[in-house]
Amino acid sequence: MTPKEVYLDNSATTRVYPEVAEEVRRIMEEDYGNPSSLHRKGTGGERVLNASRRLLADLLGVKSENLFFTSGGTESNNLAILGMARRNRRKGNHLITTTIEHSSVLEPFHKLLTEGFEVTFVEPDPEGHINPLDVAGAVNQSTVLVSVMHVNNEIGSVQPIADITRYVKKKNPDTLVHVDAVQSFTKLYFSPEQWGVDALTLSGHKFHGPKGTGALYLREGVLAEPLFGGGGHEKGLRPGTENTPDIAGMALAARLSMENRKEMVEALQKMKEKLLSAIAAEHPWMKIIGPSPGNGAPHIANISFPGLKGEVLLHALEEQGVYVSTGSACGSREKKTSHVLEGLGLGLDEKTAEGALRFSFSFLNTPEEIEYAASAVNNAVHELKLFSTR
Ligand SMILES: Cc1ncc(COP(=O)(O)O)c(C=O)c1O
Repeated sequence: MTPKEVYLDNSATTRVYPEVAEEVRRIMEEDYGNPSSLHRKGTGGERVLNASRRLLADLLGVKSENLFFTSGGTESNNLAILGMARRNRRKGNHLITTTIEHSSVLEPFHKLLTEGFEVTFVEPDPEGHINPLDVAGAVNQSTVLVSVMHVNNEIGSVQPIADITRYVKKKNPDTLVHVDAVQSFTKLYFSPEQWGVDALTLSGHKFHGPKGTGALYLREGVLAEPLFGGGGHEKGLRPGTENTPDIAGMALAARLSMENRKEMVEALQKMKEKLLSAIAAEHPWMKIIGPSPGNGAPHIANISFPGLKGEVLLHALEEQGVYVSTGSACGSREKKTSHVLEGLGLGLDEKTAEGALRFSFSFLNTPEEIEYAASAVNNAVHELKLFSTR
């Protein structure tokens, strides 16, 4: 049967697993006590919180004391970057990040510029890869913090976090390393402790958990200044009553995503290759933006049909029930070329950038859906091309 709806915008957000929705509802109705309350209902809420923290920490291979719940990737990035830079200011005022980070990383760095910090923005190669030597080369004795994302949300390039951390620490052991791992958790090999990173950001809604949930891992002994005042929750780092139902939903989503991970990730990679090869067979002029298909993250493909507008194609696909994106979720309503594509520099001309279309896959997609999406793309491109040459 032809699928009526094919959702391929999973880097923007994912559909929650049915088990997650059920668990969130159960906790809202039964275990709704405030974890800080002293009575039995409160203890129930606290139990939910502790179990969720333990489960997520186990899946990450870290200690549960080092995991803090937040409202999502944006908050975790802000807390890590603003919090660690400000808390460690007396050690130095130099910071490093890259030009292709998510805006929830770039904007805190711009804010820190106004507070007197200096920031080095490292540029990627034309495929979107950051060279660890470029990062380490920028480190000096007053570098307090480096922040590099694991997987780029627009083009799927994967950064060598272990190498970056090792080279940075070799140059200055006191420099802290933060990783925005929003797009990689559950899809790629993952080991914050082995990589030796000091801080790491997660977002629940990118792996079939509820929106508005996230976590920040802080290595033991790493200090950050809180963004809010108001209570002792999350050891004072993130005051505010914890969103227990959704936190439990995020932890469950992580567990379900990590089950059969190897097979699931292989399936993602196959779907991506199948889609790209079916489109390339019919439209060999299609361009792949970012890393080659075998080299990037298994769930993200960014392609362009130079001369056709990505946004027009997006709506033509929507007509056929296929949902994709032209850029990052948060920036896609702003009508300007994405800073990530611009960051690829000479590797990308304007027409290719304007035609960019991002397909992102999830564990809930099926090969049948990919077949349908590929023919929807092929038809839409044929039609638009005909129209544009008339
Ligand atoms: C790489 C990256 N970092 C951070 C975020 C922000 O996460 P959230 O939507 O949970 O605030 C996103 C969301 O698209 C992202 O892709």
